[in-house]
Amino acid sequence: MEHEFWHERWSKKEIGFHEGTVNKYLYDHWPELSGGGTESVFVPLCGKAHDMWWLNDRGHPVLGVELSKIACKDFFEEAGEKAMVHPGEPFTTFRHDNLELWAGDFFQLVPDDLKHIRLVYDRAALIALPQPMRKDYVEHLTAIIPEGTRILLITLDYKTRITPPPFNVSDEEVRELYSADYDIEHVLTNTLPNDHMFTKRKGLIGATESVFRLTKR
Ligand SMILES: C[S@@+](CC[C@H](N)C(=O)[O-])C[C@H]1O[C@@H](n2cnc3c(N)ncnc32)[C@H](O)[C@@H]1O
Repeated sequence: MEHEFWHERWSKKEIGFHEGTVNKYLYDHWPELSGGGTESVFVPLCGKAHDMWWLNDRGHPVLGVELSKIACKDFFEEAGEKAMVHPGEPFTTFRHDNLELWAGDFFQLVPDDLKHIRLVYDRAALIALPQPMRKDYVEHLTAIIPEGTRILLITLDYKTRITPPPFNVSDEEVRELYSADYDIEHVLTNTLPNDHMFTKRKGLIGATESVFRLTKR
């Protein structure tokens, strides 16, 4: 998607993707991914997800990258926390202890930025992007994270015609995108109830969410 699309979503507060609570798959499946450790976590296309506070509260240093400065500002303000802001190019950084949000384009990150990262949390990042960009996203992610990095990936699939995002990403596509460079473990696929808040709002029927654990070889 064009940057303008997302800037407009944030300035108009059209952020239906924001859960405002801890994601249930993160809660259930993070302990196995992290092994209970406190390694550094990268959160691509992070929005203002509460999940980052949850991860940080469990001892993980967190680095999120997000296009929108509004999202970064709101993330700290809504939690009643003050962040040190350093305007810059290509990223303006917001820092509170060992929780950092970098406002700017994911595709501007370089391997040196993420050399300390051992874990990645992808909720609504891959599925926020149209098909050609998903390939670029995975290629870039693979280029910037260290070998051995483990990823918790949450995807969404549906057959209903809706205006994306979110885009539908099948389990097969996940294998196509990641199998060259990652060991892939399919954790679960869950059918969302048709009266689920999200499926109702989008008019989705029979949508499924999948959770994967990936390890970069
Ligand atoms: C669907 S939202 C998901 C946000 C978050 N992961 C969550 O679970 O709430 C996708 C986010 O990615 C951001 N985004 C889109 N393209 C980006 C890019 N190239 N670099 C950084 N952030 C981007 C958007 O501004 C938006 O906040």
